[in-house]
Amino acid sequence: MLRHIVYAQDFSFEFLEWLFKKTDEMVSAFNNPVNRGMLIRKHVGRSMFLVFYEPSTRTRISHDIAAQRLGMMTTGTENAGEFSSAVKGESLEDTIRVMCEYHPDIIVLRHKEIGSAEKAAKVANHYGVSIINAGDGAGQHPTQALLDLYTIKRLVGKTKNLNVVIGGDLKNGRTARSLTYLLSKYEGNKITFISPEHATMGQDILEHLNETGTLYLQCADMSNEIRDADVVYWTRTQKERGSQSGELIINRDVATIMKAGSIIMHPLPRVGELTTDVDELPQAKYFQQAGFGMFVRMALIDMLLSPNQF
Ligand code: NCD
Repeated sequence: MLRHIVYAQDFSFEFLEWLFKKTDEMVSAFNNPVNRGMLIRKHVGRSMFLVFYEPSTRTRISHDIAAQRLGMMTTGTENAGEFSSAVKGESLEDTIRVMCEYHPDIIVLRHKEIGSAEKAAKVANHYGVSIINAGDGAGQHPTQALLDLYTIKRLVGKTKNLNVVIGGDLKNGRTARSLTYLLSKYEGNKITFISPEHATMGQDILEHLNETGTLYLQCADMSNEIRDADVVYWTRTQKERGSQSGELIINRDVATIMKAGSIIMHPLPRVGELTTDVDELPQAKYFQQAGFGMFVRMALIDMLLSPNQF
């Protein structure tokens, strides 16, 4: 049983299939007024703390509302880097230990350091509290990867034998890293990484792809790969991690060469690398993608609170 959600590579193929089915059930229950009312009584009295040391809009609010739609109480801090006792020098471990003394069921943590969620999980484990990694610096963002793969499954209709282009700042973008781990679990997926020379995908991920026998290519320009892609997954330059801005822009001209039935995804926020003239094209799925995040997180939270479900 998964107690903490820390790394995307911890998800088994069976778990992913199970979670996506459960997410479909959450969507149907939510869309039925009687069942929506039942969902809200599901985890009354349970609680989630959201402890965010880095900026967030989607991840924080979608976890929060997902928990509330299941009847949970939520609280937390959205700027722990400035407003929490971290400013006074408190260690992450001490903060998590104190949070655990207030008896949450789940702590959702976003922190600037790689490995912070794993550190937090070691402490929280003693209290029977689950940690969800909502982004650990340039490390990973496993729940984003879940909603990304769920989006692909829903909108492209399959998770294997896909031609996926992943582009942008791949050195520092944690969502691209986590999604790559998930894509490597399915047969026949081919990944093309497009990034500036100074922001290529980490060696650890490339080694993982070699080990799992996943086909991949690396390019520094937009290339023909976009034309043949089933999915184009674009990301921004992570300036806060010292990256320089890139030149790789998806605009209407680029998007219109994509084949029928293909989709464009982006974890958002976008800051120029995906222009707004793409939004009206049928390939543009990034807002719908963000919306799926609430349902995937409802399924995940329900799993964490219901021992023996998976
Ligand atoms: C991403 C993140 O925080 O890593 N945002 C998100 O959670 N949707 C992507 C980003 O900030 O570039």
